[in-house]
Amino acid sequence: MKIVLAYSGGLDTSVICRWLQETYNAEVVTFTADIGQGEEVEPARAKAKAMGVKEIFIEDLTEDFVANYVYPMFRANTVYEGEYLLGTSIARPLITRRLVEIARQTGAQAVAHGATGKGNDQVRFEMGAYALDPDIKVIAPWRDWDLNSREALMDFCEKHQIPVDYQRGANKSPYSMDANLLHISYEGGGLEDPAAPADEDMWRWTVAPEDAPDEPEWLEIEYERGDPIALNGQALTPGAMLRTLNELGGKHGVGRSDLVENRYVGMKSRGCYETPGGTILLKSHRAIESITLDREVAHLKDEMMPRYANMIYNGYWWSPERKVLQALIDESQIPVNGNVSLKLYKGSVSVVGRSSQSDSLYDADVVTFEDDQGAYNQADAGGFIKLNALTVVIRSQLDHQQAEA
Ligand code: ARG
Ligand code: SIN
Repeated sequence: MKIVLAYSGGLDTSVICRWLQETYNAEVVTFTADIGQGEEVEPARAKAKAMGVKEIFIEDLTEDFVANYVYPMFRANTVYEGEYLLGTSIARPLITRRLVEIARQTGAQAVAHGATGKGNDQVRFEMGAYALDPDIKVIAPWRDWDLNSREALMDFCEKHQIPVDYQRGANKSPYSMDANLLHISYEGGGLEDPAAPADEDMWRWTVAPEDAPDEPEWLEIEYERGDPIALNGQALTPGAMLRTLNELGGKHGVGRSDLVENRYVGMKSRGCYETPGGTILLKSHRAIESITLDREVAHLKDEMMPRYANMIYNGYWWSPERKVLQALIDESQIPVNGNVSLKLYKGSVSVVGRSSQSDSLYDADVVTFEDDQGAYNQADAGGFIKLNALTVVIRSQLDHQQAEA
């Protein structure tokens, strides 16, 4: 049997690699992706080689990730349960797509991942894999093996001479973390008490808002068809855009969140997230839509957004319903062109201006408080209100009659 493993090069997936080789007498193919997690991916090559892996795939997918997953998601102003910007959720469909493609290319029958049996990630990997290849076999070692403590894992490593530069205790982060160009997440450890504030030294990408510069910073983002294309007049690729906004947001303490979310498998989980660039983009995208989108289209998008967010959170990226909804969202973005000016200051991102040469629906002549030159007839509003009030008036008349009787 041949198995393609989503391999980070870290302890857990190294153990999985060895375990798959032993348990299934399998030939393991490793796949390691750079999606902007900020860690070198090349070291995974030597580690895989040392375990006898012959086919090693290491790929830089950052541009693909932002252009084809993050940007489409931001077109919908997507947020899960009002708080979570879906940084991990949106990376899984891309990893899954490459796992399945590599399986085809190398003639492998199965794919394997390092997600536990308690979380969302397992669902996302497996739903995606089945959607992309209905015949694929998925192996989730965390659900199958008995190496259920850190110590058991470390012992397995020692026994099999797994070359992980992993320190028992010392350098180990107390959190379960996941990072990519959109966010870094922290779960577990001291966060498991949802009443306890996170340690300040947990946060890696942003300064505390109170330690941010006393001087605000102004930015201008240009949009084309709903996607950011330039920052302060300079065209940037999607990857460069998000990287730059992460740096600016991080410096000003923008994009921290601490929340309890409902996992798809049913439990509540406390997580802390840093999404500096994403937080800026969410705010600025709404601002450019505010002048370019028709009211009813904007409201329709807002109604559908929570369902779209659930699809991404729950692992339905490759489903027919997500694709249909995406087509609607993408169509809505045709007129979303223009510029947004923003200010970053001590943890906040504020919109200070918005404009669109080609697509603004904002009509100063209509809205003005000054003398309107006939663009809008105020007298029309009386009839508009009276007809809209008819149902409440009839109800109220009856209430009054009944009270008197
Ligand atoms: N709770 C978040 C989500 O479901 C983050 C998951 C982080 N994953 C991880 N393997 N550490 O999207
Ligand atoms: C995991 O269980 O692997 C991480 C958490 C999650 O997937 O929700």
